[in-house]
Amino acid sequence: MDKIHSLTGMLDLYEDGDSSDLSKNIFETEKRIKNIFSNYYLKEIRTPALEDTDLFKRSAGDISDIVNKEIYSFHDRNEKSISLRPEGTASVIRSVIEKKLDQSTHKLWYMGPMWRYERPQKGRYRQFYQAGVEILGYPEGAPEFEMVSLVCSIVEEFNIPDCTLKINHLGSQENKKAYCDALIKFLEPLKKNLDKKDLERLARNPLRVLDSKNQDTQLILKDAPSLKEFLEPKSIELLEAIKNEFSDICNIEIDYTLVRGLDYYSGFVFEALSSNLGAQDSFLGGGRYDDLCSKLGGKELPSIGMAIGIERFASLISNSTHSDKILSFITLGSTLEAKTYKIAHRLRSLNKNIILDMQLSDSSLKAKLRRANKSGSEYAIIVGEEEFNSDKVIIKPLKDELKEQQTVSIDELFDFYKAL
Ligand code: HAM
Repeated sequence: MDKIHSLTGMLDLYEDGDSSDLSKNIFETEKRIKNIFSNYYLKEIRTPALEDTDLFKRSAGDISDIVNKEIYSFHDRNEKSISLRPEGTASVIRSVIEKKLDQSTHKLWYMGPMWRYERPQKGRYRQFYQAGVEILGYPEGAPEFEMVSLVCSIVEEFNIPDCTLKINHLGSQENKKAYCDALIKFLEPLKKNLDKKDLERLARNPLRVLDSKNQDTQLILKDAPSLKEFLEPKSIELLEAIKNEFSDICNIEIDYTLVRGLDYYSGFVFEALSSNLGAQDSFLGGGRYDDLCSKLGGKELPSIGMAIGIERFASLISNSTHSDKILSFITLGSTLEAKTYKIAHRLRSLNKNIILDMQLSDSSLKAKLRRANKSGSEYAIIVGEEEFNSDKVIIKPLKDELKEQQTVSIDELFDFYKAL
């Protein structure tokens, strides 16, 4: 029979790792990022993976690549066009409008799979995971600082190598329009030098030409008018204040050519990059989107948000950052189980910071110790027939060769475990 394979660009992930460390790091990243989110008093929101296709057309913009080429859309049995979400922001706003929560403020986070039909390559998948944050109902000012502080906390906690946070301000609607007009005027006589993709961008959304991957276009753009000239002083001051406040934690660069791939942004935008990632170097991105809620039929709801690409982020973290303490519980002899499980149960309730791996197989001591070493256990707690009959256990250090193994009573084991 033919084997069934996973779909192109879609990964299977195992917490204990598979051929690479990426899987392991993804779970590790998700766990630790959730802690940081709750540190910032953000509350979780879960929305469905499938939505009405119109939601993404109206939010990301009909002219964005995401809606044009990358969206997974289907017709359901009722001939309704539904899509797998390519990102989380639109669903969050759809939900707060539907629940009539769009008159109040919210600080939310989400984590889950997103789908984009892109050409897979290193760091680019068709199903990928995002951890996102949306701060709803607050106008420009404090939330921008809170958002950059959050990004810095994440970069700091994970010690991300060679990281740069690029920031920009897209200005008011009027600033943006004036700049787009100037850009069109500059590029119009040079159209013959632009490729098909950039010509399309120029016609539909001129700001996106700034994001062109074509080297020739980038050369032409060196002489283009700068967005900076079209911004109000308060927008430039905001960028400079953020750079001044946080540059000691993270390398921050004001980049007036930074534009984002989704059309709902207005005002402050940002992207975090690492040179260790290769071509797909952006592991996080976001910005302000004050008009999205009213555009989707809700109230005026000034908002800002960001999303981390978990796979890209996880490929940057080093395994040595893993700090959980693991112990292995090894029983020898099949009659010992009932009592020893109760001991393990008590141990787990005594110290919730320790991970206790109860070894379930019927294999030899040697095989069980091998597994304990592989899992990175610091100690093995061993109970054989002899120990079992005398209410004793062996504590065997696995990492520190200078420490000797000791035989202790059950009460002594409890004290030892509590103190770890
Ligand atoms: P985005 O820049 O489209 O923004 O995606 C955020 C991050 O998701 C990217 O920086 C990247 O790390 C990751 N990512 C995107 N596409 C892929 C892919 N095909 N494979 C792997 N990783 C990928 C958004 O999605 C916005 N919703 C962010 C936001 C929230 N803005 C405001 N609130």
